Amino acid sequence: MKNFGFYNPVRISFGKGKIAELTGMIPQNAKILLTYGGGSIKKNGIYDQVIAALRGFNVIEFGGIEANPYYEILMIGVELIKANEIDFLLAVGGGSVLDGTKFMAAAALWEGSDPWEILSRRNVVKVTHAIPIGTVLTLPATGSEMNGGAVITRRETKEKLAFSSEKVLPRFSILDPEVVFSLPQIQVANGIVDAFIHTLEQYLTYPVNAPIQDRFAESLLITLVEEGPKVMANRTDYDAAANLMWAATMALNGIIGVGVPQDWATHMIGHEITALHGIDHGRTLCLVLPGVMRVKQKNKEAKMLQYGERIWNITEGTTDEKIDAIIAKTVNFFESLGIKTKFSDYGIGAEIIPKVIDRFEKRGIKAFGERGDVTLEDIAKILELQLK
Ligand code: NZQ
Ligand code: ZN
Repeated sequence: MKNFGFYNPVRISFGKGKIAELTGMIPQNAKILLTYGGGSIKKNGIYDQVIAALRGFNVIEFGGIEANPYYEILMIGVELIKANEIDFLLAVGGGSVLDGTKFMAAAALWEGSDPWEILSRRNVVKVTHAIPIGTVLTLPATGSEMNGGAVITRRETKEKLAFSSEKVLPRFSILDPEVVFSLPQIQVANGIVDAFIHTLEQYLTYPVNAPIQDRFAESLLITLVEEGPKVMANRTDYDAAANLMWAATMALNGIIGVGVPQDWATHMIGHEITALHGIDHGRTLCLVLPGVMRVKQKNKEAKMLQYGERIWNITEGTTDEKIDAIIAKTVNFFESLGIKTKFSDYGIGAEIIPKVIDRFEKRGIKAFGERGDVTLEDIAKILELQLK
C-alpha cells in the first residue's frame, strides 16, 4: 500500500425525513443563499421541505444552475453573494448544483484577478478561503456531497475544468433516499454508471496489496450491479434507493482511493466530450471506458482479472478470452441501463478524435492514467475503438 493522508469532515445525515434536520445544522444568524437547478425541486416537494426547515432564517434564492454548471451563470451568483453579504451557501440539487455552489463559495472570496484561475491554473494557485456550504443531495451520482471536487464549464470557450479543495468540502450533506423517487430513468442510469466508473478509476489500475480498498471497491461495484437495476425497475423501492445513494457517496468520498494508484483517464477524456457535444457526464464515461480497458489492457491485467472474477464470475479461458468477456460484461451492464457505448450512437464520427487531442495539446497535457502513460496517441486509439 502507498503512503496516504485522509481527511473528510463532512457530516452526513442519511435517511427518510432528514431534510427537516436542516434547522439545527445552519447557524441561526446566517445569511443564507439557497442554490438550486432548473426547478425539479419545486415539482417533487424537496423545495417545500427545505423552505419549511428554514423558517425563521434569512434566506435569498439563486436558482437556474444548469447541468454542467456554467461559469458565466455562477458569476452572477457570486455578485449576489457579495452584494448581500451572504455567509452560508445551501446547495439543493445534483452534482451540478453542488459543484456550482462550491465554485461560488471559493470565487466570492477569491483575491486574485479572475476566479476562472481557480480552474484554469489549479495546479499553480490555491483556494485559501471559501464561504461555508451545506448540501441537500437530490441525485445519487457524483459524490460531490462528500468531497472537495467541482467541475465547471465555461460557455464562451466550451472548456470543462475541475478543481479540488478542502475549503469547499461541505459542512454537512443531507441524503434522503426518497429524492430518488422523482428522478427520470436517464438520470438514475447516469448516476449508477458514474458511481460505478468512479470506483473503477480507483480500482482498475495495478495491485499494491491493498485488500481493504479492493474489497471496499468490490462491494460498491457489486452493490451497484445488484441494486441499480432495482431502482430502474421500481423507483419507489426505498431500500434499493438507499443502497444506490450510499454507494454513490462512498464511491467518491476518498475512502476507497487512499493508498492506491488512481487512473481518471476516462473522466478526463469524458469531460472533453461533454464540453464539445453536451452529452451527459455519465454517458461520456461509458463511451470512453471500454476503449481504456482495451488499450491499457496489459497495464491493468492483474486488476482486470480480479475485477472479472470477483464482480462478474469470469474464471474460465485464456487471459485474452477472459479480458474480452470482462469488457463485454461491463459494456452489457451499461447497455442494460439504456446507455449507449459507441460514438455512432450519438451521431459523432472520427472528427471527435483530433478535436479532443487538440484540446489536450493546447493545455500542454501529455498523458493521464495511473502510470502516467495514457498518451495522446493512446487517447486517439481509445476513441477510434469506440467510434462504432
Ligand atoms: O436542474 P434540476 O431541475 O434540478 O434537474 C436536474 C438536472 O436536469 C435533474 N434532477 C436532479 N435531482 C432530481 C432531478 N430531477 C428529478 N428529481 C430529482 N430528485 O437531473 C438533471 C441532472 O442533474 P445534474 O446535477 O447535472 O446531474 P449529476 O448529479 O449527474 O451531476 C453531473 C455534474 O457533476 C460533475 C459532472 O461533470 C457534471 O457536471 N461531476 C462532479 C464530480 C464531483 N464534484 O466530485 C465528480 C463527477 O465525476 C462529475 O464530473
Ligand atoms: Zn464522474
